[in-house]
Amino acid sequence: MSEIAEILKHKIENREALVTILGLGYVGLPLAMVAHDAGYPVLGYDVDHQKVDLLQAGRCYIKHLRPEKVEEMARSKTFEATDDAKKLAAADILILCIPTPLTKQREPDMTFVDATLETVAGALRPGQLVVLESTTYPGTTDERLKSRLEMTGLVCGKDFFLAYSPEREDPGNKEYGTFNTPKVIGGVDPVSGDLAETFYASIVQKVVRVRDARTAEATKLTENVFRAVNIALVNELKVIYDRMGIDVWDVLDAASTKPFGFMRFNPGPGWGGHCIPLDPFYLSWKAKEYGQSSNFIEHAGEVNIRMPEYVIEKLIRALNDRKKSVKGSRILILGVAYKKDIDDPRESPAFEIIDKLLRLGAEVQYHDPHIPQLPQMRAWPNLPEMRSIELTPSEISACDAVLIVTDHSSVDYDSLSRNAPLIIDTRGIYARPSSKIVKA
Ligand SMILES: NC(=O)c1ccc[n+]([C@@H]2O[C@H](COP(=O)([O-])OP(=O)(O)OC[C@H]3O[C@@H](n4cnc5c(N)ncnc54)[C@H](O)[C@@H]3O)[C@@H](O)[C@H]2O)c1
Repeated sequence: MSEIAEILKHKIENREALVTILGLGYVGLPLAMVAHDAGYPVLGYDVDHQKVDLLQAGRCYIKHLRPEKVEEMARSKTFEATDDAKKLAAADILILCIPTPLTKQREPDMTFVDATLETVAGALRPGQLVVLESTTYPGTTDERLKSRLEMTGLVCGKDFFLAYSPEREDPGNKEYGTFNTPKVIGGVDPVSGDLAETFYASIVQKVVRVRDARTAEATKLTENVFRAVNIALVNELKVIYDRMGIDVWDVLDAASTKPFGFMRFNPGPGWGGHCIPLDPFYLSWKAKEYGQSSNFIEHAGEVNIRMPEYVIEKLIRALNDRKKSVKGSRILILGVAYKKDIDDPRESPAFEIIDKLLRLGAEVQYHDPHIPQLPQMRAWPNLPEMRSIELTPSEISACDAVLIVTDHSSVDYDSLSRNAPLIIDTRGIYARPSSKIVKA
C-alpha cells in the first residue's frame, strides 16, 4: 500500500476520517446514521435545502428510521448537514447515494450521477476514497466515474481511491437494516477495494468483498432482477389460475410447505418502489452494448406493467355484475404506498390505477395511514390533489367498491369486509372469495 493509502487507512482505523454522504434520502440518511454510530465525524450533503434544514434541526423525514438518532446527530459536534459543496474538500471518504431513475424511454437516467460527479470532481484531492452506492449498470464506476474523476489530473488507485458498494436497504424491514445487512464491496483496483473494505467493516456487521466494482454492480442488479422476474412469474400464474378457477394464494400457501427448492413471492397489483421496476432495465440496456438480449427482464417488465390494467378490468367486471358502470362509481383505493407499512409511494401502482379510474369517470378517494396527502409524482402530473380519508364504517359503506392496493397492517380488514359493498383484493388478504370479495 502506498503512503497516501496508508494515511487514509490509519484515519479510518482511528475513526478520524471525515465521512461525507452525498444524497440524504432513503439510502444516504441511514448510512450517515451507522457511520455516526461507529464514531466517525459525518458530513451530509444534499441539494435539497429542506432536507438539510430538517437534519440540522434534528428532525427525521423518513418515518421508519430512528428519529432519536437524528436528534442525537444534530446535537453532536460530529455531524453536519449542508448544501455547500465547498465543504466537501475536507472529506476523506465521499459516498454517493443519489437517484438512478429511468428516462421515459426506460433507459438509465444518469443526470443525477453526472451532476454529483461534477461536485465530487470539484472537491477531489489526493488521499480521498470515493464510493458509489446507487444502483447502476456494470461498468459505471470504472468507466464513467473513474474517467471523469481522472480528468482532474489525479490518478485512480494512486492519488484517490474508487469503489462500488450497493445499498440493500429494504424500507420498513424490522429485522434487517443498514447495520446488519451484509455489504458487498468491489474496488476499481485492489487498494481501493481494501480501503473500502476497511471502512465498511468498521460500520456494518459483515462485508462481502468481491473481485471488482463490476462484480459488485452486477450483484446488486442480479438480486433485483431475481425479484422482478419472480414477481412477474406469480403475477402471470395468478392470471392463468384465475381463468382456471384456482386461487393463486391457495396454491402458494400449499407450495410454500415444501421445505426445499421453493421460495415464495406474492402476486399484487403491479410492482413498485425505487428498485424493482427500474433496476433490471439498467442491465438490459447495458446488455445491448454486448449484443445480448435480456428476454427474462423484458418479459417480467411486460407482465408486471400489465397488472394495474388487469386489476381495473376485474373491478369493471365486478361492478358490471352489480349492474353498475365504473363511470360515476365511488371507488376507495386502500393504500398508495408501494408496499405495506411504509410511507414510500415511489413507483407505486396506485397512481396508475387512480389515474385510469379517474379517466374512466370514477369518483376516486383513497386511504393510506402512512401517506396523508397524495404526493405529486413526476410520472402522474395530472392527478388532482387528494387527502387520505378516514376509514370509518360510513365512508366504507358509502363507496361502490374498495380496491386494496397496499395491505397495510393497521387496517381493520374485518370491519372493511362487513361494511364494503364490494372489495377488490389484490393482496390475498381474504382467504376466500365471497359474493362481495373479488380476488384480483
Ligand atoms: N430506497 C431504497 O430502498 C434503495 C435500496 C437499494 C438501493 N437504492 C438505490 O440507492 C440510490 C439512492 O436511492 P434513494 O432511495 O436513497 O433515493 P432518494 O431519492 O431517497 O434520495 C436521493 C437524494 O439525493 C439527493 N440528490 C439528488 N441530486 C443530488 C446531487 N447532485 N448532489 C447531492 N444530492 C443529490 C436528493 O435530493 C435526495 O435527497 C438509487 O440508486 C437507488 O436505486 C435504493
